[in-house]
Amino acid sequence: MTEQDFLKSLESYGQRHILDHYRSLTSHQRSIFLDNSRDLDLRLVFKLHRQFTSADNSRRAAADISPPAVVCIPRTPGEHDDALRAHSTGESLLKRQKVAVLIVAGGQGSRLGFDGPKGTFPLSPIRRKTLFQLFAEQVRGLSARYGVTIPLLIMTSGDNHEETMRFFQKNRHFGLAPASVYFFSQGVLPALSPDGRLILEDKVHFYTSPNGHGGSLKALSDSGLLARLTRAGYEELFYCQVDNPLVRIADPVFLGHHSLAGSQASTKVVRRRSVEEKVGVYLNIKGRQAIIEYSDLDEDHMKALDDKGEILYWAGNTAIHVFSLPFIGDLNSDGFALPYHLARKSAYVVSSDWEPASIDVWKFETFVFDAIPLAERACCMEVAREEEFAPVKNKEGPDSPDTARQALMDLHRAWLQKAGVEVPPDAKVEISPLFALTPEEAAEKLKTRKVVASPEIYIE
Ligand code: UTP
Repeated sequence: MTEQDFLKSLESYGQRHILDHYRSLTSHQRSIFLDNSRDLDLRLVFKLHRQFTSADNSRRAAADISPPAVVCIPRTPGEHDDALRAHSTGESLLKRQKVAVLIVAGGQGSRLGFDGPKGTFPLSPIRRKTLFQLFAEQVRGLSARYGVTIPLLIMTSGDNHEETMRFFQKNRHFGLAPASVYFFSQGVLPALSPDGRLILEDKVHFYTSPNGHGGSLKALSDSGLLARLTRAGYEELFYCQVDNPLVRIADPVFLGHHSLAGSQASTKVVRRRSVEEKVGVYLNIKGRQAIIEYSDLDEDHMKALDDKGEILYWAGNTAIHVFSLPFIGDLNSDGFALPYHLARKSAYVVSSDWEPASIDVWKFETFVFDAIPLAERACCMEVAREEEFAPVKNKEGPDSPDTARQALMDLHRAWLQKAGVEVPPDAKVEISPLFALTPEEAAEKLKTRKVVASPEIYIE
C-alpha cells in the first residue's frame, strides 16, 4: 500500500481525524505509521461496522433448534466396546504420525489479571508448573509413548509473542525438540469507536485487537504452517485453549470417534451445571451441529428442561476440538469462512489531547466453534467435567487458579486411589504428565512403585 492509497482509503472511510493527525507527524513518523498500518484490513472493519450498525442484535431467534447427537460417556457394554474401538483407531492415528497439537494462547487474559502470558501462570499444586509446562510434558509423554513427533503449535498474539517464545527458550522447550515447537501469531483488526472512528494507540499505531480464537484457523493457513503440516503427512489437528490444565492432549478415544464418524470438526462437551452457567451450548440448528455462546442463545432454549426436569440442551462447550487439516484448508480457500462477532468493550487509550482515557470500543472477533456448522460431518463427545474441564478465567472465585488447582489435585488423588494407594485426606497430590497420562497408566506403573504417605505427594 502506498501512502497515496492509505490516505485515499482513510478519506473514503470518513476518517478525517486520522488524516489531520497524519499531517501533523514528521516524515519519519509518517513512514513508521504507514508501515504499522500496511497489513490492517480497513475494508473488512468498516464493512463489519456497517453490518453491526444495521443488524438486529437481539438474541438468536428460536429457529429449528433441537438436541444434537452426542457420543455419551460409555455406560453399556456396547458403548464400552465403541470406546475401545475408538481408542485403537485414535492410537493408530498417533502411531502413524497423523496428529498435531494446537494450543491457542493469543487472548489478553484480562479477567485473570496476571502479569505475563496466561500460559506462564504457575498452576500445578505442588511443583507450581506453568500451564505451558503441563501441556508440553503431555506432548512429550505422548511422543515417547508412540515413538513419533507430535508437533506442538502455539498461537500467540502480537502482545505476547516474544515473551511466549522467550519463555519456552528459557525452559529449553520443556524437553521437546525445539524444531517440533512452532509459534505463530494471530491476526489483529483495528478496533473502532461505536460511531465508526479508528482509534490511535499512540502517535504511530492504530489501536488493534486480536481477531478471536477463530483467527487460529486463518493464521495457520496464512503462516504457511497448514501447508507444511500437510506436506509432512499430518492429517488431524487437536485443538485446545491454554486456560484448561485438565485437557487430555490428543486423547486417542476422542481422535478415534472423530475419525470413525468421518468428522471434520469434533468437540468435547460436558453437562452444563445449571441453566445459568456461562458456557457455550452445543445444539443442532436446522440439521447442522453448532455451538451458540450463552449470551447469544435465547432464554427459552437456555432454560429448557426435558420431561424428567433435566436440562434439555445439556451439552456445554469445553473448547476442546479436533479439526481435520483439509477442512481448515477449505475454510481458507475463498477468503476466510468464519463470521465475525461484535464485542463491545471499554479500552484505556490515549484521547485526542494525548491523555489516557477509558473509552467504549467495538472489537471484531471470530469464534473457532463457528467452523462446526460449516463441516460436512461433525462429532460431539461427552466427557466428565471433573476429569477434563477446569478453565482458569478469573483471578478468584469460580473458574480461577484455585478451582483449577483443586480440580487437578482431586483428579490425581482419584488416580492414586484407583491404583489402591492410600492418600491422607489433607495431602496435596500431583502426578507429572511424564509419569502417566491416564489413570490406567498410573495404576500400571504404581504396581511397582511405593508411594510414601506425606502431606505433599508428587509423583514423576
Ligand atoms: P477467552 O475468551 O477466555 O479470553 O479465551 P482470554 O483472553 O483468555 O481472557 P479474558 O476474556 O481477556 O479474560 C479463550 C481461549 O482463547 C484464546 C485465549 O488465549 C484462551 O486460550 N484466545 C482468545 C486467543 O488465542 N485469541 C483471541 O483473540 C481470543
